[in-house]
Amino acid sequence: MTETQIIELEVKMRGITSISFLLLAPLGALAAPTASSNNVIPSRVLEPRAVVTPAPCQPQLNPPPTEQESAERFEKFAHAFLETKNLSEAFEYIDATYINHNPFASANGPNAALDALGPYWGSVQITPLRRTFKGEFGWLNYRTNYFGEIVDRYRMEGGCIVEHWDQGEKYPSF
Ligand SMILES: *[C@@H]1O[C@H](CO)[C@@H](O)[C@H](O)[C@H]1NC(C)=O
Repeated sequence: MTETQIIELEVKMRGITSISFLLLAPLGALAAPTASSNNVIPSRVLEPRAVVTPAPCQPQLNPPPTEQESAERFEKFAHAFLETKNLSEAFEYIDATYINHNPFASANGPNAALDALGPYWGSVQITPLRRTFKGEFGWLNYRTNYFGEIVDRYRMEGGCIVEHWDQGEKYPSF
């Protein structure tokens, strides 16, 4: 089976509709070590879809960013994640302490997520639908060819994404 078929099978077996469990899916067995340069964190991402792991997001805590500034950073994350699909750029906004609340998550942190997404993210067809940011939370709503419509919720702290939820999330009405 190809990796994509494995992913699709897992999703069918689990009966879930979200792609986001793949942020931490245990694809480690399929990943090969890849060389890293001095300023990147080692990540086991498959060639040729290797993703350069950026340095972890540096939270700005004193003073913290305004809601508007956080919203602008969330928009940059969303654009890189869903539209240009540049994971290296998107992960510049992911904190080193990133917690994935998906029940199928095998590990937290940005490296596990990059390892899982890196090999195939470029080939997923994504239709961005809506996104918004309020307070410390950001929401993404998009459709993919594999997993249907998705709502992701993220929490930002100091301008960095520190948590993610995708189970039964509803797009907010405000
Ligand atoms: C992806 O983003 C990284 C980091 O911002 C950048 O260095 C790289 O050139 C981008 N890749 C493409 C294909 O745009």
